[in-house]
This record gives sequence, structure tokens and C-alpha cells, in this order.
Amino acid sequence: MSHPIGLCMAALIAVQASWAQETLRAAADRRGVHIGAAAGSAFWSNEPAYKETLRREFNTLVAENAMKFAQLQPTRGNFRWTEADALVEFAQQNGMKVRGHTLVWGQSGGFAEAGNFGREELLEIMRTHIQTVMGRYRGKIFEWDVVNETIADGRGTNVYRDNYWIRGIGPEYVDSAFRIAHRVDPTAVLYYNDYRAEGSVPKADKIYALVKGLRERGVPIHGVGMQGHMSTPGTIRELPEIGQVDANIKRFAALGLKVAITEFDFRVRTPASEQDLAVQKAGYKAMLGVCLANPNCRTFVTWGFTDKYSFIPGFDPGWGAALPFDEQYRPKASYYGMLEVLTPTSLLRPRALRSGLRQVETGPWRLYTPTGVSVAAGENRTVVFPTRSRGVFFLKGDGEGRAAR
Ligand code: XIL
Repeated sequence: MSHPIGLCMAALIAVQASWAQETLRAAADRRGVHIGAAAGSAFWSNEPAYKETLRREFNTLVAENAMKFAQLQPTRGNFRWTEADALVEFAQQNGMKVRGHTLVWGQSGGFAEAGNFGREELLEIMRTHIQTVMGRYRGKIFEWDVVNETIADGRGTNVYRDNYWIRGIGPEYVDSAFRIAHRVDPTAVLYYNDYRAEGSVPKADKIYALVKGLRERGVPIHGVGMQGHMSTPGTIRELPEIGQVDANIKRFAALGLKVAITEFDFRVRTPASEQDLAVQKAGYKAMLGVCLANPNCRTFVTWGFTDKYSFIPGFDPGWGAALPFDEQYRPKASYYGMLEVLTPTSLLRPRALRSGLRQVETGPWRLYTPTGVSVAAGENRTVVFPTRSRGVFFLKGDGEGRAAR
């Protein structure tokens, strides 16, 4: 009979080896959920870490810009597929799914916006665009944001945002877009997508009324995207009380609709403080957690993945650091927060493993280093090690382990 300590050590090493490869993607695959990131092929050419991180950590990909109207069809009838094709090909090569974003939007209009077209012609432009784009990617894109951001912010009778589709066609352009899309690819899951309507705000009620009407008219809509561009308390984008988000997800479920968190990020003032990054982590955990707690929410996408290429600093100067990886592609606290939410507690075996840990510091965070792991000076390494606190370790080159909680 083998020595019990020997068996323990073997088990420890086996578990440690499998946890050392833990990623968002592996955890999401085990749960059968889509964890995605927005991406752009413009970023990846000379930077292996971009593609490596994307394919390692995510099972789903969204084009951050490449599938928008003006990018795909800059002038009437002339389609440019290079970047969108490259993204789809990358996803297929790496066994990832693709979410399509977005067919009909009041921004990125290009010639359709500039042309002052009459109703019938604009409808024809919309039909041709949806048929051509969805037709090309039929069977390769599992869900589409068909209509993006058509509801106005704030309260009151001002229901629709002003845009050239509304002006040219009227609100029924929404019905048409979904009907056309469904005919082109009856298997695709079709979404209405919008921002700052995750909690109990007037805009959320307007969106609810819109999609309820669509359902009642038999329009083929299957889901609602909550973009989820969030920020710290006291700002216009502060995280809503999470029970409100839960209630929204549930009332869409009652209409037979899915929900996806489609563009999550959590901006903080830059340079980011440790405290803000901890608040950010809590925000990631809360939104991913409330999504996964609801059976109709199985897709969670972050708007980019490395702070290096987030759109936030350009869009909102003084703010940024909104994503799960820093500018050097190192996982941040928010990344570990996502991992914690994705990892079922049953997979943790803290007792068996605690003996393999050396506690190096106590304080607000519990800091450990797995024994036997050494990291050369200057080297950075991520090691996942299931402690009671679900430790994921970002080991720095001084050889000390630091639990990034
Ligand atoms: C943003 C992109 O991230 C930027 O690179 C681009 O300049 C503008 O659009 N809501 C959406 C997304 O639906 O398409 C937007 O993406 C962010 C807000």
C-alpha cells in the first residue's frame, strides 16, 4: 500500500497542475456560459500577447467596431470585409463563438445617414445591409445586436432617440430590422441592445415597453443586451443596486427573452487607486453574478480586455483602467473577481491544499505563496491555487506570492 502522505502529495500536485491552467474560458466552458470580449484586429498584428490573451481567456468574441454599418459598407453597395472576416476566422480557428454587433444603429451611419433618403429607399438600404452582412456570416455568428441604442435617455414622453432611421422610416424600423434579420438567419439569436438601463430607471421601462410591444406584435426578438458601461459610486454610471438589475433580467425572462451583458467595463479615475480597483472588482463580480444567477442570462462580454486598448480614456478623458487586464496584459483584481464568480465552490478543496501554502502576510488581504513555486527576479507569473479565499496568485519576480483579491 502506498504511503498516505505520498498519495496526498500526488493529489496535491495533480490539483495544483490543473488549477495552474485555470482561465476565464475554462471556467466558463465548465459552466456552459459565454464569456466574451470585444476585439479589433488592428491591435493584434505585432503583439502576440493580444491574441494569446484573447484566445486563452474568452470563448466568445465581438467585433468592437468592424461589424458596424459604415465600417462594413462605407459607400453604397461597396462592402469591406477584411477586418470582420479576420475576426470571424480567428474565432473559428480557436473554437470561439462570435456575437455580431451591430446591424442598425443611429451612429456609424456613413452614406445612409448623409444621403437624406426617403422612407422606401432607407428601408431598402437597411434590408440590403442586413441581408448581405448576416447572409455572409450565416451559421458563423450565433447572436446579433440587430438594433442598438434607439431609446432616449431620461424620463418623460421622449421615447426614441433622434436618429436617421427614426427620421427616415419611423419607429417601425425596429420591427422591420428584426423581421428581415430573422428571415436571413432563422437560427441566430436576435437582440435589442442599449446602455444605462440596467437598473430601475425610466429608460429601462421604456426599453421594456418597446420589447414587450415587439413580442406582442410577433416580431422575432429573442433577447435584450444590457451594455453595462459602469463606473464608481457618485457618477452617472454608478453600479445600480444589484436587485434592480436582477428584477430587470427577470421581467425580460417573463417575456420569454434572454438577457446578455454585452459591453461590460468599469471605468475609474486614472491613475487607478487600489481602492478603486477593489470597487471595480466588486462591480465585475456583482454584474457577472447577477447574470449567471438567472438562467436566461448566459452571455457576459467585456468591452475590450486590456486597458491598453480600451475606448474609455479617449471617450472620457481622466477615466479608464476599466478592463480585466492591465496595459501589460496582467490580470487585475476584476479578472480574479470574474474567476471567483465563474468557479463553482465544489471545485475548491481548501483543506487538502492549505498545507501546500505558506502564508507570507496577513492584513486586509490574505496573502499566500504556494510552496515550491519560485519565480525569477523580473519574471511575472500567474498561478491559480484554490485556498479558502479562492486564491489566484499573481507572483512577482521577487518570489513573493500576492493574492490579487
Ligand atoms: C465604441 C467603440 O468602443 C469605439 O472604439 C468607437 O470609436 C465608438 O464605439 N456603445 C456601443 C459600442 O454599442 O458600439 C460603442 O463602441 C460603445 C458604446
